[in-house]
Amino acid sequence: MNGLLEINPLKLEQLNAVVELDRLCLGGLWTREVYQRELASPNSRLLSLSRTAELSGREQGSRGAEGQRGRGKTSRSIPLLGTSAPPHFLTPHSASPQLIGISCFWSILEEAHITILGVNPDYQGKGLGQLLLCAILQDAVRCQLERATLEVRVSNRTALYLYEKFGFKQAGRRRGYYKNPQEDALILWRGDLDRSEFHQMLTNWYQQVCDRIFHDQWRLRDSRWDSY
Ligand SMILES: CC(C)(COP(=O)(O)OP(=O)(O)OC[C@H]1O[C@@H](n2cnc3c(N)ncnc32)[C@H](O)[C@@H]1OP(=O)(O)O)[C@@H](O)C(=O)NCCC(=O)NCCS
Repeated sequence: MNGLLEINPLKLEQLNAVVELDRLCLGGLWTREVYQRELASPNSRLLSLSRTAELSGREQGSRGAEGQRGRGKTSRSIPLLGTSAPPHFLTPHSASPQLIGISCFWSILEEAHITILGVNPDYQGKGLGQLLLCAILQDAVRCQLERATLEVRVSNRTALYLYEKFGFKQAGRRRGYYKNPQEDALILWRGDLDRSEFHQMLTNWYQQVCDRIFHDQWRLRDSRWDSY
């Protein structure tokens, strides 16, 4: 079992973690002050993706009273790969959550401007970027936005592949937009966010990415549904 993945709105107490994650996967794009300002902005929507490891009862036990409290609450019996702990020893979560993904978009008139999308390099290539992009687009739909746009480095093949998969098209180029190293930005757009066909596609993408995550032995909790 890989553990529990959680999507939540980013919280103020995650500031240190998000600055570190930004440094790791975006090269230090936004400072602490910028994240703080974004959290306070009504037009900015920030989502966090966290991972909580799920430990075996044996590991829990070695944590003393904390582990003892965890016992008896076991609700699932999914064997841990590579351990001999009997299923009933497995407990839901234990370690503190680790921030592994971040996304942000600005809501400007009827457009979603995607400003941040990043996944910790240790967790890339597992569908989590797609999960976060689905979440951004779902939130944009809920805000009744009609289009989504973003800038991306011309050399960023992974991001370009990801956005193309979700129907983004190249609409322009900003010469020398990025520094360190200097590079052009491609401007991508995705329209039709308000069309029922897009809503159906989004539902299918989300289902596919969730299936992949469950197949990889993650559990997923998306707190956005709690408030909808
Ligand atoms: C872009 C980013 C968010 C994607 O996250 P991720 O979790 O790695 O993405 P996914 O696992 O969902 O993979 C997305 C697609 O990219 C493709 N991909 C993954 N690694 C790739 C690589 N090295 N080269 C080309 N394509 C790649 C995959 O094929 C995948 O599609 P598929 O699973 O249908 O085949 C992540 O790589 C990242 O944080 N990069 C650094 C920050 C960044 O560039 N952000 C975007 C700025 S606009």
